[in-house]
Parts: sequence; C-alpha cells; structure tokens
Amino acid sequence: MELKRRPRRLRANETIRSMVRENHVRVEDLIYPMFVMPGEKKKVEISSMPGVYDFSLDEFVIELRKVVELGIPSVLLFGIPENKDSVGSGAYHEHGIVQEATRLAKKHFPELYVITDVCLCEYTDHGHCGLIDNGQILNDPTLDLLAQTALSQARAGADMVAPSDMMDGRVGAIREVLDKEGFSHIPIMAYSAKFASGFYGPFREAAGSTPQFGDRRTYQMDPPNGNEAMRETALDVEEGADIIIVKPALSYGDIIYRTKERFGLPVAAYNVSGEYAMVKAAAANGWIDEKRIVTEALVSMKRAGADLLITYHAMDVARWLREGGQV
Ligand code: PBG
Repeated sequence: MELKRRPRRLRANETIRSMVRENHVRVEDLIYPMFVMPGEKKKVEISSMPGVYDFSLDEFVIELRKVVELGIPSVLLFGIPENKDSVGSGAYHEHGIVQEATRLAKKHFPELYVITDVCLCEYTDHGHCGLIDNGQILNDPTLDLLAQTALSQARAGADMVAPSDMMDGRVGAIREVLDKEGFSHIPIMAYSAKFASGFYGPFREAAGSTPQFGDRRTYQMDPPNGNEAMRETALDVEEGADIIIVKPALSYGDIIYRTKERFGLPVAAYNVSGEYAMVKAAAANGWIDEKRIVTEALVSMKRAGADLLITYHAMDVARWLREGGQV
C-alpha cells in the first residue's frame, strides 16, 4: 500500500499521543459543588451520591482544607436550611446557612473562590424555585427575592453568584441590585441553558428539594430544544451574565458547543448529580473503570467547548492529576 496519510503515526506511543493531545482537564477547570447544613460535627453521606456529603459548618471547614490542598480553585455552595417556608426566607437571610458558610470559607481560605447558588427551591417548603400562588409559580415577584439572595451572599463575601432558578429576567434583576449596592465587581455565572432533567434526582434527595406538587417544566427548559437554549442564553448575556452554565452536561454536548461558538463567553458544564450517580453505581458493580469513564466524560465537555467543569468528581480528579495521570 502506498498510503500517504497514516493517522496512526501520531498514535504510536504515549509520548507522541500526549504531544498532540488537543484537550486537557486541568485542576484550574474544576468547581466543586458542596452542601452545607446547620449543626455541628455532622457529615452525612448522600445515599445516591457515594462520596458526597452534607456538611455542618465545622466539618465543612475541615473538608475545605482538603479542597484547597488539592489545588481546586473554587467551590459552589448549596444550603440545606434548618427550616423551610413558603417564601424561602432561609435563602436571603443575613445569617442563612450559605451566607455563614461563605463567611467561614473566606475567613479560613481567602484565596478560595467561593461561588454561591442563587435559588429558592432548597428553602421553600413546596420545593419550587419561585413563589407560589394558587398552584402557579410567580415570576416577577420572585425576582426581588432572588436579587436579595444574591445580595446577601455578596455581603457575606461570595466571589461570584450563580442563579439556577430559571425565572425570566433574574440575571438583570440580580445585576441591578448588586450594582446599586456596591457589588458591581461580582460576576454572575448564570444557569442559562438549564433543562428540566431527570438527571437532577440525587441532588433533590440531598437538598430535600423535590417539588411537592407538579414539576419544574414551566420554568426549566424542554430537553428536546436546542434553539430555545440559544434564545434563553442570549437574554442572560444581554442582562449581564459573565459565565454561562449548560446543565446537565453529558447529554448536552451540542448545547455546550453551540453556546461557546455563538457567545464566546466562558462556558461551564455542570456534570450533575444523576450523571455522577450512574458512574458511581456502575463502578461499584465493577462494570466500568471509574477513572477512565470520569476523565473521558470530563474531557468530552472540554472538547465540546466548556472552559469550566462543575463536578462532584472534582476531588478525585484533582488527586488523579496530582498522581501524574493523563486526564
Ligand atoms: C436548584 C438546583 C438544582 C441543581 C442545581 N441547582 C436542582 C433542580 O433544579 O432541581 C441540580 C444539580 C445536580 O443535579 O447536581 N435549582
């Protein structure tokens, strides 16, 4: 055979493969989602997410030390409040659980980049992301509470806020209040393309945030829709989003790709709880090689165009990178 082009030449051994490798997962890409709750000396494993815990604040600080030691630059905080009510008041209380966790994190680890989730669903007794009237989720009255949530988090020292509620106009509402109150330097990482997904199941177990009636399809997006995701993202960009989240990640590589191509802003892929649970369950059964699967999944998000990876695997990945593995 007189083949001129032989792609296999550049695959001959690991040295040349690593020289021509196009994408990498770096520890700097990782954002580690963490759950915090009131109380002391409590570290409760989430049963459908082995290796992921709800931490009381003292345990949270202990865990953060490991996060920092591994070189993970950033955490994304979710709060599990003591009490829930119909208006989600724990979300925007000055001494709410996320606000307190943020203060502690910044006090002990000033370099750690603390991102806070802005949403009501972990704090409402009905489990929806907005106020309710007569079984309807109210959009505009919810905006003020979301803005107050972001403001209280910024006041507690959050470096960046991440609204995940999917109400119309929330990025603009948050930007306006932050700017007015002296936080024009705080970026917004918006869950712009957030789909009404079955992959959030384990998170809802962790947060106790399963809607008590109905579902989230009137505000989160319909999974078959790609063009709608672009329209939704365009609005968030107009309203001032600095970073765009695509969520879930694994089944939405096309959305990651289109978002990056179209808007050119930093894109974060959210490797959600159900994606994590599937890998953990299969690995526990010995059916897959966990490290290979995780690293392949994460680098596929980078290949699709993601800059940042929000993942519950962050600690493991950081360890693997430290051991010198190719990720
Ligand atoms: C809250 C929120 C959810 C997740 C992140 N923020 C749950 C939901 O929308 O029901 C899911 C994260 C995950 O599954 O890992 N709005």
